[in-house]
Amino acid sequence: MRGAAKALNADGGIAYMIFGRVKPLDAILATAEKKGLHRSLGAFQLTMLGIGAVIGTGIFVLTSEAAQKAGPGMLLSFVVAGFICAVAALCYSELASMVPVSGSAYTYTYAVTGEILAWMVGWALILEYAVGASAVAVGWSNHAVGLLNGIGFHVPAAISNADALMAHMYLALGATPSADLTQAMATGGWVNVPAIFVVAIVTWLLIIGTTESARVNAILVAIKIAALTAFVLLTLPVAKAENFHPFLPTGVGNPFNSSGLGVLGAAASIFFAYVGFDAVSTAAEETKNPQRNVPIGLIGSLAICTIFYLLVASGAIGAIGAQPVTSLAGQVLAPGTPEIAGRCAAIVAAGTLEPLVCSKEALVHVLDTINWPMIGRLVGLAAVLALPSVVLMMMFGQTRIFFTMARDGLLPAKLASVHPRFRTPHVVTLLTGVAAGVAAAILPVGKLADYSNAGTLFAFFMVAVSVMVLRRTDANRARPFRTPAVYVVAPLAIVGCVVLYLSLPLTAKLVLPIWGAIGLVIYFGYSRSRSYVGRGIIDTVDDPSIQPETSRSIH
Ligand code: ALA
Repeated sequence: MRGAAKALNADGGIAYMIFGRVKPLDAILATAEKKGLHRSLGAFQLTMLGIGAVIGTGIFVLTSEAAQKAGPGMLLSFVVAGFICAVAALCYSELASMVPVSGSAYTYTYAVTGEILAWMVGWALILEYAVGASAVAVGWSNHAVGLLNGIGFHVPAAISNADALMAHMYLALGATPSADLTQAMATGGWVNVPAIFVVAIVTWLLIIGTTESARVNAILVAIKIAALTAFVLLTLPVAKAENFHPFLPTGVGNPFNSSGLGVLGAAASIFFAYVGFDAVSTAAEETKNPQRNVPIGLIGSLAICTIFYLLVASGAIGAIGAQPVTSLAGQVLAPGTPEIAGRCAAIVAAGTLEPLVCSKEALVHVLDTINWPMIGRLVGLAAVLALPSVVLMMMFGQTRIFFTMARDGLLPAKLASVHPRFRTPHVVTLLTGVAAGVAAAILPVGKLADYSNAGTLFAFFMVAVSVMVLRRTDANRARPFRTPAVYVVAPLAIVGCVVLYLSLPLTAKLVLPIWGAIGLVIYFGYSRSRSYVGRGIIDTVDDPSIQPETSRSIH
C-alpha cells in the first residue's frame, strides 16, 4: 500500500487525499513490540472472553424489538445476523493478529487504506462503542427498575425512561398527533436515571483503573448462561406450535425501503446481540498459537451465543407468542417509537396481557407470564449483575480508540493524557462517560442499538475491505492468523454489512452519513493539519506502561 500511496501521490489530487497518509505498518508493529504482552490465553479463555462481551442487552431486551419487526421470523434474523458476524469475525482476526495494537479497526484501516478512511472508521467506532454502551446501560436500567419494583421499591416512570420526552420531541418535529403519542406523554418518563447511574459507576471504575479479571468474567458468563438455560428449560416445554403462526407476519423485508421491518430489519437490529466479539480479536496478541485459538475463540463464542439465542427466542415465541403490535389503524408500529410505547401502555391499561413486543425486559416478562415469577426475578437479577461488565467492555473499547486517535495527533493531545496516579486515560474516559450517559438518559434502547449497529457495520465493512487489500499489497508479511477462503469470506462480510445497514430503519441509516459529515468537518478543520503521519512524525511516543490496553488484565 505504501507503494500505491506513493503512486497516488505522484498523480496528486483526490485519490491521494483519500488513500494517502498510510501509517506504515512497521511503525505500528514497533509500537506493539514495545508492549511485549505475554502470550498466555488459550482457546477456552478466548471463548469465555467472547461470550462475556457478547451476551447482554441484545438477548435480554432486544428480543422484543426483533419480535415487533419480524414476529416468529426473528429466528431467521438471529441466524442471518450471526452468520454475518461470523464472516466479519474471520476478517477481523487476520488483521488483529497482524496489527496487534490498540485501536482495532481504526488502526487496521490506517495501515491499509490511509488516514481519512481510518478517521472515518474511528469516528464510526464511537457509535459502536459509546452509543453501544448506552444501549446496554438502558437495558440494565430496564432490569434494575423491574427488580426494584418487584421488591416493592417503586421507581417512578418519570425517572426510569424517556418515552414522554421522545413523544414531545416527535410532536415538535412534526409527527401527527395520535392517541398513542398522547398515551406516551401521559405515562412515559423524562429521563432515564438508572441508566445514567450505571454509566457513571462504570466510568468511575475505568478511571480508577478497574479491569475485568478472567475470574470475574468467568463468573458473569456462568451467571448469564445459567439464566438463559433456566429460561429455555422452562419455556420450551410449554411452547405451542400455533404461536409460531403466522411465521413471517411482516415478510422477509426489503433493504431498499425504509420501514426496517421483516426478517432483515430484525436482523439489522438483533445484530447488536452479537457485537462485542471483537474483544477476542483484540486479544490476539496475548494468545498462544493464535492461528488455531483465535478462530476457535471467535467462532466458538459466536456459535455458542447463536445456539443460545435461537433456543431462547424459540422459547419466548413458543411460550407466549411474538406477533407484532399494530396501531389502531392496523399498521405494524416501529419499535422504539413513542407511538408503540403509547400503544403498549394502552394495551396494559385495558387489562390485556402485555404482549412480548411491549416488554422492556423480554425474558423476565415471558417467565412472569407463564407463572414463574421467582425465576423471572432471578433472570432479571442475572441481567443486573452481568450487564455492567458489557458496558465496561464497550466503554473500555471507546477510550482505547479515542486514546489512539489522540496519540496519532488527530484529536487534541489532552485527550491522551494519563492520570498520574491511576495510570488510566482519565480525560477520554470521562468524555466517553458523559457522552454515553447523555445518550442513555434520553433515548430508547432499540434506537441506541440501531445507531450503534450503523457504526459497527461500517467498521466491519472496512475491515473486510482492508483484509483483501492487504493480501495484495503486503502479501508476504507474516499473518499469525489467515482468514480462510478470504476472497469468499470477505466479500460475504461486505455484502452482509451492506444489506444489514440498508435494512436499518431510516433514522439509523441517516445517523451514519450525518455523523460521518460531522467527522469530516472536524477532520479537515482540525485533524488533518495536526496529524503526526501528515507531518512526517511516524514514531510517536509509546511508553508501554501508559498504554491503556496494557493495564487490561484478562488472565
Ligand atoms: N452484544 C452485546 C449486548 O447484546 C453488546 O449487550
